[in-house]
Amino acid sequence: MPLPKRSFSGIQPTGNLHLGNYLGAIKQWVKLQDTVDGIYCIVDLHACTATHDPVVLRRSVSAVAAFYLAAGLDPAKSTIFVQSAVGAHSELAWILGCVARFGELARMTQFKEKGEGRESVSVGLFTYPVLMAADILLYDANVVPVGEDQKQHVELCRDVAERFNATFGDTFILPEPLILGTGGRIMGLDQPTKKMSKSAGSPNNYIALEDDPDTITRKIKTAVTDTGGQICYAPEEKPGISNLLTIYSLLTGETMSDLEARYTGKGYGFFKRELTEVVVENLRPLQTRYRALKKDPAAVGEILRQGAERAAGIAGKTLSRARKRFGMEPV
Ligand code: AMP
Ligand code: TRP
Repeated sequence: MPLPKRSFSGIQPTGNLHLGNYLGAIKQWVKLQDTVDGIYCIVDLHACTATHDPVVLRRSVSAVAAFYLAAGLDPAKSTIFVQSAVGAHSELAWILGCVARFGELARMTQFKEKGEGRESVSVGLFTYPVLMAADILLYDANVVPVGEDQKQHVELCRDVAERFNATFGDTFILPEPLILGTGGRIMGLDQPTKKMSKSAGSPNNYIALEDDPDTITRKIKTAVTDTGGQICYAPEEKPGISNLLTIYSLLTGETMSDLEARYTGKGYGFFKRELTEVVVENLRPLQTRYRALKKDPAAVGEILRQGAERAAGIAGKTLSRARKRFGMEPV
């Protein structure tokens, strides 16, 4: 298979970024950046689909930008920008919204999960995957590195792009989701059958990228493990220890079988202490860079400005192509 040419992905600036976001998404982006043109967005328009505080939203945008950089995204290699700074996203989302079907959006599991039990749900939450499709298609992205939970949205994006192309003529590149085999779904520490999530009720569910060593120690210590003391990777039968092994393996690059061999007969307590060290030591350099970047908002702002400028150039061309095909400009 030829190397993918362009990668696009994004994270919502809501709540704390956690280890699931890092291992499932951002770490993949950093790995790709020497071989692929990467465009990475802070999707603030998506964050408005739930009730939000404008001041908190702006603060979260800067924090996520600083995390992208601290995790190793290099603005000389990758484009980093804020979604709302490029107007083409909203405009293409309207066009695609006239091509997507109500029924296919109603089938999105994330909408069903997020909307469940709420008294009122915004229209934006329902049409959220259409905006995500616009994000991806504007940049002719070949791959979309995301966690497992976003697979259905990328598939919807492909369906909508295919329908547009078939009806109005070839316009969009069909993207592929890029999802890690193990690690595409990091589970909650307190509930290892559900994904780690920043919207989880308990902070013991996730390790935030900002957590200090004491907090990380406490969270791993209280992480749910399974009956029987063996340390082996068996996600169905032993979801707790399997999740901890996954985190260990992704952070160190060691294979599951190497880890199983090393920890045979060692017990959960011993394993958890070593895992704590691995997590703390992996997050330490990232946190140091993050703190330095937080002290220099002007530098981060300038990176985002330049990123938006480049992004707008690419997006403008695709939007104009789509507008022509759709009948909004003389052909
Ligand atoms: P979100 O925080 O929902 O904006 O997600 C940002 C990115 O992190 C997306 O690519 C998600 O698929 C990914 N992600 C979120 N939670 C997890 C998780 N528990 N395991 C793996 N990837 C995740
Ligand atoms: N929906 C994604 C999430 O919640 C965030 C997102 C928005 C995204 N636009 C995107 C991810 C485009 C990949 C590509 O995680």
